[in-house]
Amino acid sequence: MKVLYSATKPTGKLTLGNYIGALQNWKKLKDEYDCYFCIANLHAHTINIDPKYILENTYEQFAWFLSCGLDSEKSCIYVQSMLPEHSEMCWLLNCNTMMGEASRMTQYKDHLAKGEKSITTALFTYPVLMAGDILLFNTNIVPVGQDQVQHVELARDIAKRFNTRFGKSVVEPNYFIPKVGAKIMGLLNPESKMGKSDDDPNNIIYLQDSEEDVARKIKRAVTDSVGIIQYDPENQPGVSNLLTIIAVMENTDIQQVVESLSGQNYGALKTRATNAINNHLRPIREKYKYYMENKDELYKLMQKGAEKAKKVASQTLKRCKDAMGLL
Ligand code: TYM
Repeated sequence: MKVLYSATKPTGKLTLGNYIGALQNWKKLKDEYDCYFCIANLHAHTINIDPKYILENTYEQFAWFLSCGLDSEKSCIYVQSMLPEHSEMCWLLNCNTMMGEASRMTQYKDHLAKGEKSITTALFTYPVLMAGDILLFNTNIVPVGQDQVQHVELARDIAKRFNTRFGKSVVEPNYFIPKVGAKIMGLLNPESKMGKSDDDPNNIIYLQDSEEDVARKIKRAVTDSVGIIQYDPENQPGVSNLLTIIAVMENTDIQQVVESLSGQNYGALKTRATNAINNHLRPIREKYKYYMENKDELYKLMQKGAEKAKKVASQTLKRCKDAMGLL
């Protein structure tokens, strides 16, 4: 079986964007691959963040993974910091990454462009840590949203360089993005991505929002003055975003949603979106509640996942160290 690897970073509550671009897509692929799903908590410390928040958010994201239908028996679900191999691999790969490559990564450039003074070296090398995550598990495919494609491409470039310098030691990965929903946009600002660290909660649907919150936020979602329900992301980004969300939540395609709403107004579109989201998320939220009330059970699953992950990661690390002449 080919290997699939993906992760989320516990720097905020998971959003509908994370769910559509990542989690629900992982669930669809999980039976076709040997899967590793990770809570990338080392990545979370690239910014200044409260340790208590990271810890709680790690449990939350682990609980969402399980609630969304990932199976810790079939797949390996684990927490990054429980495997020291990640940090060690990151160093080996830092020695094989060019300054120019790391400088071109959007996230670092965005922080720089905002004029932030306190950028850590970890933020700069963050994509290298991510490459390490992927390469440690001999990954063939990395399902991600659009914003992470650049990082997976870098992982591939680093893997190629490593193999060229030291002989074939790692697998060169490919990214995979969903056909629909690779970039879910903000509700109030449909020109940019719905991101979990956005300052305005009304721009975002969180998985843990109540049904009333979802209704209220969708009601306020920005549409346009065209007045026709059609899929046209360039000219009608808000409406197109809602159509995409409905299509994924109802497990159908965008054209069918458009046809079924033909001749109706934006109020009907919004009611449909609210119902689609709430109906889809209701059973998932119930499971989430159960897991969060049983954190001991979650911790046991984390330990099991880490044991499983370590077996593969430690072998890859040894292979890479041997190739680099490191005792
Ligand atoms: P993170 O936590 O920012 O996002 C997790 C996943 O959600 C996707 N995503 C979206 N997809 C569609 N629309 C959106 N609005 C949206 N927002 C987020 C992201 O593309 C991602 O797939 N660096 C990674 C975590 C990571 C990782 C890895 C991923 C660490 N190591 C190894 C893959 C492989 C991150 O910050 O994801």
